Amino acid sequence: MTRDGDEVAVRVRGLRKTFGTKTVLDGIDLEVRRGEFFALLGPSGTGKTTLLRMLAGLERPDAGTVLTAPRVTTVYQEPRLVVARRVLANVTLGLPRSARDKGSRMLTEVGLGGRERAWPATLSGGEAQRVALARALVRDPQVLLLDEPFAALDALTRLQAQDLVAELCARHRPAVVLVTHDVDEAVRLADRVAVLDAGAFVVDRAIDLPRPRGASSTASDPAVLEHRRELLTRLGVLSPPDRVTPPSGEVTPPSGRSGLTSDRGVIA
Ligand SMILES: Nc1ncnc2c1ncn2[C@@H]1O[C@H](COP(=O)(O)OP(=O)(O)OP(=O)(O)O)[C@@H](O)[C@H]1O
Ligand SMILES: [Mg+2]
Repeated sequence: MTRDGDEVAVRVRGLRKTFGTKTVLDGIDLEVRRGEFFALLGPSGTGKTTLLRMLAGLERPDAGTVLTAPRVTTVYQEPRLVVARRVLANVTLGLPRSARDKGSRMLTEVGLGGRERAWPATLSGGEAQRVALARALVRDPQVLLLDEPFAALDALTRLQAQDLVAELCARHRPAVVLVTHDVDEAVRLADRVAVLDAGAFVVDRAIDLPRPRGASSTASDPAVLEHRRELLTRLGVLSPPDRVTPPSGEVTPPSGRSGLTSDRGVIA
């Protein structure tokens, strides 16, 4: 959620990226402010990770501009911990010793207070991912890039990790760009959701729902179901005539939007 005066931390204009003969990103414009949570969906191979890598400065654009605030950190699908270093040393990797107290506080924030001296091999998948989150946040990122950070977690751990990320992002207020394949996760966490397809955003919609968005409170909210229906349709998971059936068994009324097709064609 942004506030007045929040500065723009990500500004992308006319971004194009080509690998060989394949144009992966073609005319992307994106602005994300501090405190804003932007989620990006899209079929596999459409360039989501490529876009994050460009925001992280790991790839150069072929055309257009990519500007970010200086402190950018990324959390990946796998925690990428150094197995020969204890948990706290992983969190403060590359930082001066003076960062250790802050590293400990960050571990407490992710629910791992007291685990500073544990070895990565003794952590569960969810715990390891929380260490990765602490390692990102201890650097005070102005831009936090999340590339499917919950994809390898079981369903319950994933919901808990989503709650934690929502809380931490509200507290530390980076500009967040989350890549996910999970529509429910995107709607639950984001202020804005876009769908990337054929090199461009085919949807970019605000998710204007109150927070906190608990898993149970949002499950049957008609506004959530409408977002879900449109995004799933755009992703080709629902064909346009389909309806999302809410848990109550009621059928969601048609939205009346004409947004089932785009000038790039129907994804379904
Ligand atoms: N360094 C590279 N050299 C050549 N092709 C690349 C390179 N990096 C990515 N690509 C290609 O660019 C396309 C987009 O890749 P990218 O990893 O960004 O997709 P993605 O949307 O993140 O997919 P997924 O959802 O499966 O993670 C793919 O076709 C991929 O093969
Ligand atoms: Mg990817």
